[in-house]
Amino acid sequence: MSTWANLGLQDSASPLMEQLIFFHDHALLILVMITVLVGYLMFMLFFNCYINRFLLHGQLIELIWTFLPAIILLFIALPSLRLLYILDEINEPSVTLKSIGHQWYWSYEYSDFNNIEFDSYMIPTNELSTDGFRLLDVDNRVILPMNSQIRILVTAADVIHSWTIPALGVKVDGTPGRLNQTNFFINRPSLFYGQCSEICGANHSFMPIVIESVPVNYFIKWISNNMNS
Ligand code: CUA
Repeated sequence: MSTWANLGLQDSASPLMEQLIFFHDHALLILVMITVLVGYLMFMLFFNCYINRFLLHGQLIELIWTFLPAIILLFIALPSLRLLYILDEINEPSVTLKSIGHQWYWSYEYSDFNNIEFDSYMIPTNELSTDGFRLLDVDNRVILPMNSQIRILVTAADVIHSWTIPALGVKVDGTPGRLNQTNFFINRPSLFYGQCSEICGANHSFMPIVIESVPVNYFIKWISNNMNS
């Protein structure tokens, strides 16, 4: 999760987020190079005193400063497209989780397992335990197995919400009447915090998401306990 003064991206916990961070760094590097070059040129313009009364056109330089930016943009566009298609790929998921956005909480269904379903509300500040995270902890966490492909189906019951987990590189809108799909692979056991990221009404800030990723045998135990009850 994000803590104090963490202005960059969170550490990745999935291969997709790792690729997203690589792409971010790559794009930032190109951006810095352009900014430095243009900044240097503009700065130097203040101090030059070259004048040419007969300069009316410069075909070659115009050709260069038209095509060079276009080629540079390709170096961002092509990796971006590659990422887009990787993110869209569904790799034979072993678990499917359905999350439904409501005003203002999430509810979850494990449709593969006798349709286990529950609501997940934020814990109010006055009920928070001393080791809890204010505005981020929920009463019922999403339990998911690590090292497995997981499919997420996102929808909403009233207005548009967005199911967002930064460390996993997941951000899917939940839209009433539609079922959106994405998938991810969690590569370590941990707690992952996220928040709704569509402005969905008065309590938009108060519908966090907590994922608890556990080893597969723990997940199976949790599933079988909940199926019996
Ligand atoms: Cu749900 Cu913002």
